[in-house]
Amino acid sequence: MAVRKIKDGVRAVGAIDWSRRLFDELIPLPEGTSYNSYLVDGKNKTVLIDTVDPAKRDALFANLVEADAAKIDYIVTHHAEQDHSGSLPEVIAAFPEATIVCSGKAKPLLMDLLDLSDERFMTVADGDTLDLGGRTLRFITTPWVHWPETMVTYLEEDKILFSCDFFGSHLAATDLMASQATGVYHAAKRYYAEIMMPFRGQINRNLEKLADIEINMIAPSHGPIHDKPELILDAYRLWVSDAVVNKVVIPYVSMHGSTEVMVDHLVDELTRRGITAKPYFLSRTDIGEMAADLVDAATVVIGTPTVLANPHPLAIYAATLVAALKPKTRFASIIGSYGWGGKTIETLSTIVGGLPLELIEPVLVKGYPREDALERIDALADEIAEKHKTL
Ligand code: FEO
Repeated sequence: MAVRKIKDGVRAVGAIDWSRRLFDELIPLPEGTSYNSYLVDGKNKTVLIDTVDPAKRDALFANLVEADAAKIDYIVTHHAEQDHSGSLPEVIAAFPEATIVCSGKAKPLLMDLLDLSDERFMTVADGDTLDLGGRTLRFITTPWVHWPETMVTYLEEDKILFSCDFFGSHLAATDLMASQATGVYHAAKRYYAEIMMPFRGQINRNLEKLADIEINMIAPSHGPIHDKPELILDAYRLWVSDAVVNKVVIPYVSMHGSTEVMVDHLVDELTRRGITAKPYFLSRTDIGEMAADLVDAATVVIGTPTVLANPHPLAIYAATLVAALKPKTRFASIIGSYGWGGKTIETLSTIVGGLPLELIEPVLVKGYPREDALERIDALADEIAEKHKTL
């Protein structure tokens, strides 16, 4: 990956990971990702902002050579997660004069996760500044985007906000700026869903904290730089708001077709009522896309057959995911088929029990869904339509 100039004295020196397809062994990355790292030169001091995932350490070092970074005085470490901090041990070994600059909460995490010693650190508090000579870094703590120790850095003279995961997107692209790249908005929404959504309230507070800062550019540590920052700021404001849209997300699985008949019928009936329906067949789906739809869907309906008296394990997984991601979804229901009994409703209701969801009467049928079962699906679609009138 080449060094890319953002402006005089501010360069991108991170790495693109075109082929990575899974993050945390959990999150699909259909578009790859990037680990953005930035080199900022003042008249007196040079700062590296975040490092890269250890898998791309060589690319970072090659870029530092290309950038002719003879010395690095500070390494600003916004976040202890290893996709940004994992190359720190090698970077501080290569630049023995460099001091790690991080929040007070990040320091013990970094020491524990990376086995680093105490003397290389300088901790900063909310609002602290660092003079580089003609350039000033201001540190702003932004807890829970998405770990407790996270902070961002504002380069005052250039009005650039270095935001690490905040406003990021898993999108490998040679285009430096979001206005040049394609698909950034959707990738950022998907990223928000997967990483940030469980912390919606805290993210809202962090957005308010940034509201009075004049920002020309937001440079995250994943994906392209937001050269029109209002677009991503407005998107985040919408995503963290309480507003939901006229949409039903339907995670489902079907073993012998009965549940699928019910889901297909529900999709048709919702469509007839002017409601957007998004079915996701769980054994084949990309859960990142489902998560992105959960960002603003008013309703979720889980479709499942019965396996050993319980919902199908994939339906349990989907419910677990919904419970963990904590979407602002308001209504929920369950549809599916069983052979001789089971406790589908109890099991799924317990999993999502911590969410403030209103449960709409589930539709479970014995065996293949006959006409009376499909009429119950019609009634479910009617009730969802009535509920959605209140949005
Ligand atoms: Fe991109 Fe939370 O690390």
